[in-house]
Amino acid sequence: MTQHLADALPTTTGTLPGWWRDAVIYQVYPRSFADSNGDGMGDLEGIRSRLPYLKELGVDAVWLSPFYASPQADAGYDVADYRAIDPMFGTLHDADAVIREAHELGLRIIVDLVPNHCSDQHEWFKQALREGPGSPLRERFHFRPGQGESGELPPNDWESIFGGPAWTRVADGEWYLHLFAPEQPDFNWEHPAVQDEFRSVLRFWLDLGVDGFRIDVAHGLVKAPGLPDLGRDEQLKLLGNQVLPFFDQDGVHEIYRTWRKVLDEYAGDRIGVAEAWTPSADRTALYLRPDELHQAFNFHYLTTGWDAPALRATIDESLDSMRTVGAPTTWVLSNHDVVRHRTRFGGLDRARAAALLMLALPGSAYVYQGEELGLPEVTDLPDEVRQDPSFFKENGQDGLRDGCRVPIPWSGDQAPYGFGTGGSWLPQPAEWAGLSVEAQTGDPASTLELYRSALRVRRAHPQLGAGDAVEWLPAPEGVLAFRRGDFVCTANTTGEPVRLPAPGTVLLTSGELAEPDVLPADTTVWWQG
Ligand code: GLC
Repeated sequence: MTQHLADALPTTTGTLPGWWRDAVIYQVYPRSFADSNGDGMGDLEGIRSRLPYLKELGVDAVWLSPFYASPQADAGYDVADYRAIDPMFGTLHDADAVIREAHELGLRIIVDLVPNHCSDQHEWFKQALREGPGSPLRERFHFRPGQGESGELPPNDWESIFGGPAWTRVADGEWYLHLFAPEQPDFNWEHPAVQDEFRSVLRFWLDLGVDGFRIDVAHGLVKAPGLPDLGRDEQLKLLGNQVLPFFDQDGVHEIYRTWRKVLDEYAGDRIGVAEAWTPSADRTALYLRPDELHQAFNFHYLTTGWDAPALRATIDESLDSMRTVGAPTTWVLSNHDVVRHRTRFGGLDRARAAALLMLALPGSAYVYQGEELGLPEVTDLPDEVRQDPSFFKENGQDGLRDGCRVPIPWSGDQAPYGFGTGGSWLPQPAEWAGLSVEAQTGDPASTLELYRSALRVRRAHPQLGAGDAVEWLPAPEGVLAFRRGDFVCTANTTGEPVRLPAPGTVLLTSGELAEPDVLPADTTVWWQG
């Protein structure tokens, strides 16, 4: 089953070697992309059958969120077997077919790796529970006695990202650490067996031909020695703002150095992408030193509002930080964990303008499935259909992650709109008939055709993704204007039209341009000039 077809794909784009430096990478959320067997849940065969759509859209690579064997306590981010496919998604043969056919189409495949924690149904954790306190198998996780007279209090004050204490007590009285749901015990990355196991898992998927890994919670693997108290509550407020005893510890970098050696053993430019929430772009850059990973999600960009000065500051800061380590900056607006940017920014015009701005910046861009259709967040899901574990927590996150995970509409005027033949695991809004791939295809005013055109223009003008700097041009308040060679991008983030001399001829525009000298509200224009 081994595939090395990736070796035959071009490895150089833009000006520097490395296909990933300016790649547009499309995130597929397997549950919600395409359902081939009518069970209402997306699957690998559905993904395989839709690869031509992604090719035609014009992306370079596809990142697949987890499809591994999992009880689905956190939609597959609770992995019970890192080398097996969950029957809900298909078989290893199906995964092989996705990788092979993607390569035949010239698309690369990045899979999700979840090394911070596994499922409580993972064989190692079940054994650790069975063998009891003091057993060496417990050392692969963080088991501790509790505090208080009879150990009835958690070992420290850490809170779970999903709410409540980060510790759960088992029948024999010990507690185990889980930074996320209780069904997601954290691995102890000091343990050599854990380190060996993940290098072996990397090789398993690299041998199958994948082009890289998106590394889940890449900043969380190493915990501060002694697991010290944080000393305060409402710890969620600190996430991404400071180094914590469980996040962004310097020790994580040693792990990625060993992983880089594994990636480099393989031909064809295999990459590692960090999902690392760090306090600053400079700290994110540390994950991308030449002997570590290749890319990291730019969450500082994702969390910046639709506001010219703020965007410019984040763009500059991101580029400056990544330049110091020679890594490409990445740009991302949406993913499976956040409110879709159409809704976050307040409307389709802004979403379209934001997409053109992102795709004009140097580096690599991530597109989350459905954003090319201009899908909004679904905000009125009934409680009984929600599955996000954070939703069920009393003190946890707002629990809104299901609203960006609703299966996408492909065709037809009735739910599930071509997603499959048997419904969809989350209900789709009635208005989505008009947003389907079929409804938008061929309509030059549609968001789908805007993305297709943008990716076509980006391919024809490799300077858009290349390099590590933008040349800012003078612009009125609320407007961003920058040059990249003979290409100019102007973006009006205000709600009013702005007069601005046309810097050339129009290549593409996110909204109708009545006069070349007037940039409409919430509109981005690409110019050749
Ligand atoms: C990452 C994933 C998220 C998941 C969490 C725990 O942040 O993107 O969906 O819940 O890790 O694995």
